[in-house]
Amino acid sequence: MNLDEIKTIGVIGAGTMGHGIAQVCALSGYQVVLVDVDQGLLDQAVANITASVDKLHAKNRITDEQFAAAQTNITPSLALSDVSDAQIVIEAATENKAIKLDIFKQLDTLTAPETILATNTSSIPITEIGAVTNRPAQVIGMHFMNPVPIMKLIEVIRGLVTSQATTDTVIALAEQLGKTPVEAADFPGFIANRILIPMINEAIFALMEGVGTAEAIDTVLKLGANHPMGPLALADLIGLDVVLSIMEVLYAGFGDPKYRACPLLRQMVAAGHLGRKSGQGFYSY
Ligand SMILES: NC(=O)c1ccc[n+]([C@@H]2O[C@H](COP(=O)([O-])OP(=O)(O)OC[C@H]3O[C@@H](n4cnc5c(N)ncnc54)[C@H](O)[C@@H]3O)[C@@H](O)[C@H]2O)c1
Repeated sequence: MNLDEIKTIGVIGAGTMGHGIAQVCALSGYQVVLVDVDQGLLDQAVANITASVDKLHAKNRITDEQFAAAQTNITPSLALSDVSDAQIVIEAATENKAIKLDIFKQLDTLTAPETILATNTSSIPITEIGAVTNRPAQVIGMHFMNPVPIMKLIEVIRGLVTSQATTDTVIALAEQLGKTPVEAADFPGFIANRILIPMINEAIFALMEGVGTAEAIDTVLKLGANHPMGPLALADLIGLDVVLSIMEVLYAGFGDPKYRACPLLRQMVAAGHLGRKSGQGFYSY
């Protein structure tokens, strides 16, 4: 599959990431079939996309043509089979291995044999996902960052047997979407989470040990390392449950104690202090 053959993109999952991916693809002129299992979430996704493109249009950040494309190019659907005409499918469903493996098995039978099957997973090995299909050379990671319309990076992750042709097409597509693709190998956490999440975990250890207050730790990283946001404020934004589950993936994947989750992180998750989404994390919201 070459870039110029791609006309229709299937997006599976219409949540935080899926609706952003659908929006970015539609604004770049692709037809998008956006699939979810929940009609309420599909409706919410369409409303979120409309609100986002209204704002971008009002600020002259997108053209009239792109604004119109966002309305006409996205077809929401509850049926996975509606992606059967897509040349590439980008899966952004719930981060659960059983759910994803089931979706990929179905996509393998529903789509044409040359269709590329990409996943936005943060932690599930691309090689394992590819192995449940009959086309592992065409299975690849496309790891978008949140919020998708704003963040420039896409990590492009090759499974052990992902082909060069698939990688080249996905890199070209990422550029066509206005993003900067960076290749990563299929090891736990890829590049972004491998480095970012242990840094956050270390900041939580520093807080637990009384090395500094939350404000002190965040201020040091902001002013001392020029980070736009301190690691504890960032943890609250990401969600402490998500931070913990990524640490668990790194620990399980490498079997190295340097990736052990901080006990204070576990305690906060157990208490339901998940950050912004619960109103309480390292800060109150
Ligand atoms: N949120 C982030 O910051 C972020 C960043 C990068 C990657 N990711 C990855 O993106 C993926 C999606 O994450 P999210 O934050 O958008 O989750 P989310 O919970 O907001 O959305 C997931 C959506 O998938 C739908 N879904 C569940 N099972 C499905 C199925 N069988 N078929 C179709 N849809 C189904 C759910 O109804 C839900 O709308 C995950 O793999 C996650 O690891 C998330």
